[in-house]
Amino acid sequence: MEYHAARHNVPLLSEANEEQDCCHIVEEPDFDWDLFPSSMRRMEGPPIPSISEPSVARHYTQLSQMNFGVDVGMYPLGSCTMKYNPKVSESLAAHAGIVRLHPREPEAATQGILRILYELQLMLAEIGGVPEVSLQPAAGAHGEFLGMRLVRAYFDDIGEDRNQVLLPDTSHGTNPASAVMSGYEVLEVPSKEGTVDLDALEKAVSDRTAAFMLTNPNTLGLFEHDVLEIARILHDKGALLYYDGANLNAIMGRVRPGDMNYDIVHFNLHKTFATPHGGGGPGSGPVGVTEELAKYLPVPMVAREESVYYLDYDRPDSIGKVRSFVGSTGVLLRAYTYIRLMGGDGLRRAAELSVLNSNYLAHRLKDHYPMPYGSLRKHEFVLSGSSMKDKGLRTLDVAKRLIDHGFHPPTIYFPLLVEEALMIEPTETESRRDLDAFADAMIKIAEEAEANPQLLRDAPMKAPVGRVDEVYGARNPVYCWQDMEKGG
Ligand SMILES: Cc1ncc(COP(=O)(O)O)c(C=O)c1O
Repeated sequence: MEYHAARHNVPLLSEANEEQDCCHIVEEPDFDWDLFPSSMRRMEGPPIPSISEPSVARHYTQLSQMNFGVDVGMYPLGSCTMKYNPKVSESLAAHAGIVRLHPREPEAATQGILRILYELQLMLAEIGGVPEVSLQPAAGAHGEFLGMRLVRAYFDDIGEDRNQVLLPDTSHGTNPASAVMSGYEVLEVPSKEGTVDLDALEKAVSDRTAAFMLTNPNTLGLFEHDVLEIARILHDKGALLYYDGANLNAIMGRVRPGDMNYDIVHFNLHKTFATPHGGGGPGSGPVGVTEELAKYLPVPMVAREESVYYLDYDRPDSIGKVRSFVGSTGVLLRAYTYIRLMGGDGLRRAAELSVLNSNYLAHRLKDHYPMPYGSLRKHEFVLSGSSMKDKGLRTLDVAKRLIDHGFHPPTIYFPLLVEEALMIEPTETESRRDLDAFADAMIKIAEEAEANPQLLRDAPMKAPVGRVDEVYGARNPVYCWQDMEKGG
C-alpha cells in the first residue's frame, strides 16, 4: 500500500509539537494537591503537544479536505441512496430543546418530541400503506431482524411450526443474516431475467415457509412487476411477504408496499428520508405491519389520548423491545423534518427524479460497459466490468480509478448475479451537470482501460492513500495503519 505522504502529509497533532511557550494556555491551578492521595496523582504532566491555534485549525481543515462525502461530490453507492441531505434537518436535530432531552424525563415534559414521533409513525404508515409502525429499530438490518421476530411471534401464536424463509437470488446479504439469526433456514429462489421466477417460487413455497423477503425495486434496479402474484402465492400457503425498504426511494409516493400486499415493511430512514448514511453513525429502520400483526410490535409505541401523547407499554402480545427507548431520535427527527419539508408531492417528485437520473446515466453508459438484464431501470442500475478482463483489469480497478477522477466509487461486486458488478445509484439530488461529469469520467476510464491499463491498476494516485489491501485492512485495522505509517 502506498501512502501519498508528500502530497498530503498531515502529521498527527502529537507529532507536530512546535514547542512554543506562547501556546500554553492552561495555568497551573492554585490547588492543594495533598487533598489527593499520592498514589492517584500524576508525577508529570500529560504529553499535550504545544501547538498554536492556527496550526490546530489548519490540521483539522486539512484532514477534512482529505475526506469525501455527499457534501463534497457525487456518491453513487448503489442500494445506499447517498442523497444530499437538507441542512435544515440537521439544524433541527441539533436543536438544544431536542439534544438536551433525556429519555427518562416525565411524559408531561416531553410532549413536543412525543408528538413529533407520533406524527412520524402516522406519516410512515401512510407512505408504506400499513396501519401501524414501530420506530424502534436502529437500521434496515435491525428492521429485518424485528420483522423476522414478528413472523415468528405470529406463527407461534396461531400454532404453526414453520422453519423456512425464502429469498430471491438478488437479495441483500442482511436478509439471510436476519432470517438465520431468528432461527430460520434460508432457501434461495432463482430469478428469471432479473426478477423473481414465479415457477421457481411456486415450487419453493410450502407449509414450511414462514416468509418471503423481497425488496422492490430489486437490487438490479428492476421493478418486480409480478409482486401481486408473488403475494398471492405466499398468502395462499399461509406465509407472509416481507418488504425490504432499502429501495423505497424509487417508488415512494407512486406505489405503497402495503398496496402491493406486503405484510411487513421496513423503512431505511437513513437512506430515503435524509440522514447521512454510511458514516458509522446511528441509523433508523422503522417497521410497519398489517392490522393482523400490529399487536406483536415492540413496546413502547407512541400513542395519543385526546391531546396527550404517551408511551404505550400496555400491549400484552408485544414481542418486547429490540432497542432502548423509542429509537434513534435524532434520525427520526431528520426524517420527520424531511417529510414535512417535501410533502407528498415532493416525495413523489424525488422518487421520479431518482428514476430519471438513473436512466439518464444508464443510457449514457450502456454502450461503454455491458449492462445485463436490459437498460430500463428504476433508481439504480448495474453495469459489468467483465469486458476489461482481457486487459487483466477488474471492476475494482475501475472503482479505484474513479477516485482519481473525483468521484466516490459505486457499490461493487453486488448483486452477485452480475459478474464484476458496478451498482450505480445517482439519486435525485444530482444535477444534469454532475451526472454528465460522472458519465464522462466512466467513459474516460473505459478508454484508459484500452489505451493504458496500468493507469487503472495503479489507481488511486491522487488520493491521500493509494491502493489498500482491503481484506487485510478489514481484518487488521490497527496493523494496517501502523504499516501505512511505516510506508508499508
Ligand atoms: C437492499 C438492502 N437491504 C437491506 C440493507 C440493510 O440496511 P442497513 O444498512 O440500514 O442495515 C441494505 C443496505 O444497504 C440494502 O441495500
